Amino acid sequence: MQDPTHFPVSEFGPAIPGMVIGGVGILHVFVAQFAVGAGGLLLWLEHLAGRGDVLARRFLDGFFAFLVLVSFVFGALTGVGMWLTAVQVSAPTIGVMVREFHWLWATEWCFFLLEVVAGYLFFRYRTRLSHRTRVILLALYALASWMSLFLINGILSWQLTPGAWLATHSVWDGFFNPTFWPSLIYRTFVAWTLAALAALFVAQFTAGFDSDERRRLQRSVAPFFAPSALMPLVGLWFLAAIPADSRSWLLGGSVAMTMFLTIAIGASTLLGLYAVAGILWRGLSIQGATAGLLLALAFAATAAGEFVREGSRKPFTIRNVLYSNATTPESIARLRQSGCVTDDPYPLRGPVPPTAQLATGAKVYRRLCAICHTLDGTNGVLHLTATWTDDQLRHNVAQLQRTKPFMPPFAGSAAEGEALVQWLRWHRAERPAAWPGAPDDAAIARIAGWLEEAGTAPGSAAEGRR
Ligand code: HEC
Repeated sequence: MQDPTHFPVSEFGPAIPGMVIGGVGILHVFVAQFAVGAGGLLLWLEHLAGRGDVLARRFLDGFFAFLVLVSFVFGALTGVGMWLTAVQVSAPTIGVMVREFHWLWATEWCFFLLEVVAGYLFFRYRTRLSHRTRVILLALYALASWMSLFLINGILSWQLTPGAWLATHSVWDGFFNPTFWPSLIYRTFVAWTLAALAALFVAQFTAGFDSDERRRLQRSVAPFFAPSALMPLVGLWFLAAIPADSRSWLLGGSVAMTMFLTIAIGASTLLGLYAVAGILWRGLSIQGATAGLLLALAFAATAAGEFVREGSRKPFTIRNVLYSNATTPESIARLRQSGCVTDDPYPLRGPVPPTAQLATGAKVYRRLCAICHTLDGTNGVLHLTATWTDDQLRHNVAQLQRTKPFMPPFAGSAAEGEALVQWLRWHRAERPAAWPGAPDDAAIARIAGWLEEAGTAPGSAAEGRR
């Protein structure tokens, strides 16, 4: 693949870009999945209404207004927000995705349009339409919203498991990749659960339903909880389908990832147990507080699940194609010759370093490390290296993929490696006004040797646990 050019750089203060995109993404996914599930749920309620269930119809008509408000307004805002942040954080990733899946993305947009049109027509005219027309509109709405999940799911799961696409570059090999089905099914189940929870929540907090009606409504939406019992199984299927090294990050290789996975599994299992044992089997009636608590659990499961999905790709944003810091596996050897910031056109922010070498170091850090690290905030490099000697620093930077296999190989020249080390030392020394300007040739030669020794291939999980 051709090496991506330099895109404008964004800095996010004490947060790492992944957290920023994660934050927006989680909100968006939560709302979007709710909207998908609500499509199916509303169709089901209309079906009940057609069989004479007046209560289902009354609830549906009220609930739909809530759905439109939340999913259209909030979903559209966070959706656009998602694009904006994704482009700030990694324009090259989005570029590759657009190039490979252009038409699928356009198709997704068509379904989104259909969803909005059908939803709006229903919302505007629902009280005047026949049952048949209402079913048609709701079916279109449900189908279109699920199809947009279907399409985007193919693109997102391809990032983690491009599978046969790596060899064939066929759109369909990429789309129907090894995690396509488990993640589609998992997300669909999540969507139904969210919709049913939101329905219970809304029924509790809108006036106009007495407690008997609330119980009846709960029985009407209960079938949408049933699949949540299978979520742990589908989760295992997903784990089985991801590459062994990603799995090993999740299962202990990275403490944070293991923690998120545990939260995702714990929260969804609790939710599933409660839904099946409590709501379906025992027919417990859910109060407002419980419904809120269950929604919070569902949010935790979604949030942790998205972190796991994002995190398990490391060091790649597109597995085997593009590293998180927008270098490609093929470009590493070349960048080690040419340097990675020789043509970086963007000025530096913050304290002006006193030497040219330090300025280079700052750019190298920005280009190769800042996507996953801050200096002294989240995952701060200064903290992580606080006790290291200079040569330890040189060695571990040069052999980055061996230091932690979820980091990409160092993609700059030996002189740039030394510049980065000096820049980190300068910060550690609290940025004095004077700093030696002449590069230490012997140190650069040692870095060159270590770079050579580590090679340009990504690290392996086995190495990471040495
Ligand atoms: C793909 C994301 C990513 C990139 C790019 C990345 N790192 Fe890391 N790095 C991590 C993660 C995650 C950790 C683990 C932090 C922890 O263990 O708490 C880490 C750990 C470290 C550590 C501590 C290692 C140890 O053994 O304790 C250092 C030092 C470090 N990184 C430096 C760098 C430098 C310098 C760069 C740029 C040349 C860089 N990283 C690029 C994700 C990345």
